[in-house]
Amino acid sequence: MTFQGVRKAVIPAAGLGTRFLPVTKATPKEMLPVVDKPAIQYVVEEAVAAGLEDILFVTGRSKRPLEDHFDRNYELEQVLESKGDTERLNLVRESTDLARIHYVRQGDPLGLGHAVLVAQQHVGDEPFAVLLGDDLIDARDPILERMIAIRSEFGGSVLCLMQVPRETISLYGCVGIETDPINGVFAVTDLVEKPDIADAPSDLAIIGRYILDPAVFAVLSETAPGRGGEIQLTDALRVLAKMSPAQGGGVRGVIFDGRRYDTGDKLSYLQAVITLASQRPDIGPQLTAWLQEFTSTGSTGNQ
Ligand code: G1P
Repeated sequence: MTFQGVRKAVIPAAGLGTRFLPVTKATPKEMLPVVDKPAIQYVVEEAVAAGLEDILFVTGRSKRPLEDHFDRNYELEQVLESKGDTERLNLVRESTDLARIHYVRQGDPLGLGHAVLVAQQHVGDEPFAVLLGDDLIDARDPILERMIAIRSEFGGSVLCLMQVPRETISLYGCVGIETDPINGVFAVTDLVEKPDIADAPSDLAIIGRYILDPAVFAVLSETAPGRGGEIQLTDALRVLAKMSPAQGGGVRGVIFDGRRYDTGDKLSYLQAVITLASQRPDIGPQLTAWLQEFTSTGSTGNQ
């Protein structure tokens, strides 16, 4: 039996970005640059690379710059066109031509589970992907296509898991799994959102990529606020894990061991920018040489 394929991606982007104030006072955190592209563009490119060209952003107030970034900018295009600057013109058009992008507003910011529920009308009765903007997956280590294939084979929902140091597990959703995987696919038996270390069922954290069965919507609409007083996707997945396949239940996980960057807080954001910049052919070699000099002598090279 093969299950219905995945065509749509949902990207929650309604968060206030308070960890990055003051820059996020008037600029959405999704628009913070990672080298020269907004963080969110990497995430959209990842979805498109996995064949998902229908993207729904769940946004909130003051997210206009995000909408503008994926829209045409005729004025800028005209200026670049008249100068014959095709290279920059292509950069401007790239984000517009990437995918079919839709928007819905979350209204009350009641948590990740609520953001997913708001996507129900657009998604309808089909499986879909959810990509969280704070997690950047290196384009050289794609995982989404594999998750989609797992969904097609087994049905239900699929999580992307990562082994983390146990003392950091309370920053993540955490899963309990059956120990014997089938071709690297684990059956998820339990889920806890940001557990205390003592209560964590394992050291496997959920990272921000999900394939969800549409059965999640009915479950979310019954899910009470959990950790932090928010409606948690993890709590709805715990219910799905215990439901039968005929009801759209079943949760599986695959362990990601590729390169992932976290843009969710200041330090990890800076690390992500430096890591990605140092891999760029245009500025990487110079940046790396400068970093070596800077870390060994403290010199910024221009004193
Ligand atoms: C969310 C989820 C959490 C998951 C994390 C991955 O938490 O609720 O289960 O582990 O994303 O980045 P957040 O980091 O948005 O608080």
